[in-house]
Amino acid sequence: MTEYTVSPEGVSHVACVGAGVIGGGWVAHFLARGYRVTAWDPADDAADKLRRLVEAAWPALTELGLAEGASREHLTVASTLEEAVAEAQFVQESAPETLEIKQDLLARIDAATPTDVVISSSTSGHGMTEMQVDCPTPQRLVVGHPFNPPYLIPLVEVVGGEKTDQSAVRWASEFFEVAGKSVITMDHEVPGFIANRLQEAIWREALHMVANGEATPAQLDASITEGPGLRWPLLGPCLTFHLAGGEGGMAHMLDHFGPSLKSPWTRLEAPELTDELRNRMVEGCEEAAEGRDIAELVADRDRAIIEVMRVVDNVRKGAS
Ligand SMILES: NC(=O)c1ccc[n+]([C@@H]2O[C@H](COP(=O)([O-])OP(=O)(O)OC[C@H]3O[C@@H](n4cnc5c(N)ncnc54)[C@H](O)[C@@H]3O)[C@@H](O)[C@H]2O)c1
Repeated sequence: MTEYTVSPEGVSHVACVGAGVIGGGWVAHFLARGYRVTAWDPADDAADKLRRLVEAAWPALTELGLAEGASREHLTVASTLEEAVAEAQFVQESAPETLEIKQDLLARIDAATPTDVVISSSTSGHGMTEMQVDCPTPQRLVVGHPFNPPYLIPLVEVVGGEKTDQSAVRWASEFFEVAGKSVITMDHEVPGFIANRLQEAIWREALHMVANGEATPAQLDASITEGPGLRWPLLGPCLTFHLAGGEGGMAHMLDHFGPSLKSPWTRLEAPELTDELRNRMVEGCEEAAEGRDIAELVADRDRAIIEVMRVVDNVRKGAS
């Protein structure tokens, strides 16, 4: 098991390798949370682009509240990868989504980074198992999958590969929490992690509907922004449907609507609604509700929908 000299709370210096849309977003996030950041990107215009991205993000980050001592001046753009990671206490890689680039780059980062430092990849879809193949110390490599823009969207999905030590997964999860992110730590490597699998299911069905002339892009977008999208800022798909079951919650919802899983509502094949799946959903929703009964959840949901509608309305009117 790897010993980590610096605790997740003790980190003050982060390296970001690859500084495009996501890497630059990470840089802005870490700067706003008060870290010193060293960035490296091989593109000729990378430093200018990165500084423009940080400038553009800073007003929003200032409005959200900067950490004490946070400053854009704490960014150093290194001229080599080795220089960028030499003194880093955590490394976030955000290079193009090509397996060969990731394999080669992570091996180089691994070779150049102090051995007790955790290295994380922003990959959207590659498993760490396939990316860490050439790494000399693969046990400290994890996936830390963000959402765009990483300086505003809280979620990071953390998961290791076959050669990753679980201590690195725990360290990274704790570090991201300390750095102000909302972390989902996954026990298993699954292509697309969690959120992208859900997004992708909607996206594929949307493309099918356009291809078949069943809906236009405008109709698809309105179906989400004027419909279920309004509930999702507070309740995800599971608690949303827990409430669709009325006082009977998820149990009633599944017993009532279970048969429609067999209806051709989507091109995705539905799983068999076994007793085991039903029970896992019912118990999982109880856990997600954290002790709130249906009436409390409904009241919270309704307040959130009103707030979200007000904000969206203001933005549409240009009054925000
Ligand atoms: N864009 C998104 O919405 C999103 C969301 C989550 C995760 N990601 C992941 O983040 C990573 C970066 O994606 P992006 O959208 O920022 O792409 P991007 O094209 O905006 O940025 C990639 C950057 O990597 C640099 N680069 C090229 N070769 C490199 C190398 N060998 N070493 C280091 N840097 C190199 C490029 O110059 C560029 O600045 C990908 O793995 C992607 O899957 C993207």
